[in-house]
Amino acid sequence: MAIRKIRIEGDPILNKISKDVTAMTGRNRELIDDMLDTMYEANGVGLAAPQVGILKRIVVIDVSENGDEPMVLINPVIVEQDGTQTGEEGCLSVPGKHGTVTRADHVICRALDENMKEREIEGTGLLARAIQHELDHLEGVIYTSKVEGEIKDNVEEEE
Ligand code: NI
Repeated sequence: MAIRKIRIEGDPILNKISKDVTAMTGRNRELIDDMLDTMYEANGVGLAAPQVGILKRIVVIDVSENGDEPMVLINPVIVEQDGTQTGEEGCLSVPGKHGTVTRADHVICRALDENMKEREIEGTGLLARAIQHELDHLEGVIYTSKVEGEIKDNVEEEE
């Protein structure tokens, strides 16, 4: 397990389309472990493989309060979505910034897990937002292209 370097907006790999995963190889397992380490280390709630420079359709998400509910989505597809939510969004590839994005409020996502078994994840609120945000990365789309109004700087809290 290792922390990988997170690519920052402007890196052309973030605008490329990722490829389907066809088999769970040792290399893919290592990538998933590293993506989870990298996401937790950066205090993120989600990370997509292109953000660490790998154009594979793999996403990790953990929206739990304690960061102990990792979710691995391989070749994910949103099969149902409805409602809308408008809220603040950020991205580990766009450090120190956030912006307002409108997303579906409820999604059903079909994907494979780390054992290449089919799974369905249903989410509302933050989980629905994270799924849509991370799946966008697999299409080369960063949330900044969907921001309503200005992209704002995060205000650093003094300690
Ligand atoms: Ni992101």
